[in-house]
Amino acid sequence: MKVLLVGGGGREHALAWKIAQSPQLSKLYVAPGGAGLNRLGETIDVSPDNVSGIVDISKEIGVDLVVVGPEAPLAAGLADALDDAFEDGGIACFGPRQGAAKLETSKSFMKEVCAACSAPTASFGRFSDRAEAIAFLRQRAAPYVVKADGLAAGKGVTIAETLAEAEDAVERMLGGQFGAASSEIVIEQFLPGEEASFFALCDGTRALPLAAAQDHKRAFDGDQGPNTGGMGAYSPAPVFTPEVEQKVMTRIINPVLKEMARRGTPYRGVLYAGLMIDQGEPNLIEFNVRFGDPECQILMRRMESDLLPLLAHAANGDLSGASIKWSPQAAAIVVMAAEGYPGPVNKGDRIGGLDAAKTVDGVEIFYAGVKEKAGVTNANGGRVLNITATADTLNEALSRAYASIEKIDWPGGFYRRDIGWRALKSTPTREQTGASA
Ligand code: AMP
Ligand code: GLY
Repeated sequence: MKVLLVGGGGREHALAWKIAQSPQLSKLYVAPGGAGLNRLGETIDVSPDNVSGIVDISKEIGVDLVVVGPEAPLAAGLADALDDAFEDGGIACFGPRQGAAKLETSKSFMKEVCAACSAPTASFGRFSDRAEAIAFLRQRAAPYVVKADGLAAGKGVTIAETLAEAEDAVERMLGGQFGAASSEIVIEQFLPGEEASFFALCDGTRALPLAAAQDHKRAFDGDQGPNTGGMGAYSPAPVFTPEVEQKVMTRIINPVLKEMARRGTPYRGVLYAGLMIDQGEPNLIEFNVRFGDPECQILMRRMESDLLPLLAHAANGDLSGASIKWSPQAAAIVVMAAEGYPGPVNKGDRIGGLDAAKTVDGVEIFYAGVKEKAGVTNANGGRVLNITATADTLNEALSRAYASIEKIDWPGGFYRRDIGWRALKSTPTREQTGASA
C-alpha cells in the first residue's frame, strides 16, 4: 500500500513510526513531514491545509490511503475532496468528512447529537446574545464553564470560579475574542471527576475500541500554569477500568455512531472522546476527530497489531472481524517544550545528547518541533521533543523516560517532573510492593 500521512508533529512521527513497521506498506509519503519523519517516509512540501494540493499529489502518486493527523484539513473538507477525487471513485481517507468532523468543530452540534441519542454529557445552553447568556449564568452556581462554539486552538474554554470571571468570559467571547468561532457560545454544567482520553476506530457503522490514556494539560508541576496541548501522558489509565470502557462504548461511542449514520453523515476515522469519570460513571466533555497528541504516541508504543490494515479497514468502511492486540506493558510520555510555551518561544536553540538519550532501554523519541541541518539539531517550536518509554510498570516507564531526558542537553527546554502522579498514587510502586525488576 502507498500511504500519504498528512501532518508533521509528534503525533504524526509516532503514526509514521508504526505504519513504517507494516509489511503491507510499499511506500510512505508525509506532507509536510519534518525532522524525524523524513527518515521514515518521503516528505512532500504541501501544507496540510492545502486541500486541493493534497488531492492533486495523491492522484499523481497513486496513493492507496491518506491518513490525516490534525483536525484542520478534515474541517476544511479534505476527506470529502478525496472521496470525490476521481469520477469513478475516490481515494481512501482515514478521517471523517466535513459534516462528521462537526463533532469537533461545533460544540453545539456535538451536544445536539448527544441529546438525540441520550449520550451522557454536561447540560448546557447555547447563546449568541450577551444578555441572555448572562441571565443564564446568574441562575447557576460556580464553577461556571463557558466555551466558544467553534475551533479556538484549544483556548476556547474558561472554567470560572466566580460569576464576575464567567461574565467577563461571556463578554470577551461574544465580543469577538475568537472571531467567528465565538460568535456563539455554550455555557455548560461543571463536571467533577478525573479526566481521561479514549479512542475508538470507526468505519461509519462499527467502532473498535482502542485504549485510554491520561494527559497532563497544564504547563507546570502540580497541574499549575496555563493549559497546553499536553505535557505528558500515560496508558493504560487506572481510572479507565474495563467497566468504564464498556459504559463508554455502549452509552457514548456506539449510539453516537448510529445517530451520525442516521443523519447521513457517517463517522469514519478515529473518534477521540474527552471524558470526565466520576466514581466509575463517564460523561463526555468533548469529541475530537483525530488522535490526541501526546496520547497517540503512547498508544502507538503499546499497540502490537499492525496499524496500517486497521486504518485502511476503517477508511474503507469494513472493520468487521478486526481486532487489536495490546502489549501488557505500560507506556509513558514526557514532553520537552521550549521555555515560554504555550506562549511565544525562542526558536533555534541547539539540542545535544539525543543519540545517548535514544539508547535508554524502552525509549523512543518522537519529534514535534525540531529542525535538523548539517548534523545539528535545533529546537523549532513550542512542544519540541517527546520522550516515550515502555516498561512492565508505569513507574519504570517513567523512570526510563526521565533517565533519557537526563542525557539531553538543552538548557532552553523545560518539562514536567510529575507525569503520572495520579496513576502512581493509585498503583503501588515496585519499591512499595518490594517486587524486583
Ligand atoms: P476542552 O477544550 O473542551 O477540552 O476543555 C478544556 C478543559 O476544560 C478540559 O480538558 C477539561 O479539563 C475542562 N472542562 C471542559 N468542560 C468541562 C466541564 N463541563 N466540566 C469540567 N471541566 C471541563
Ligand atoms: N492532548 C490533547 C489533545 O490532543 O487535544
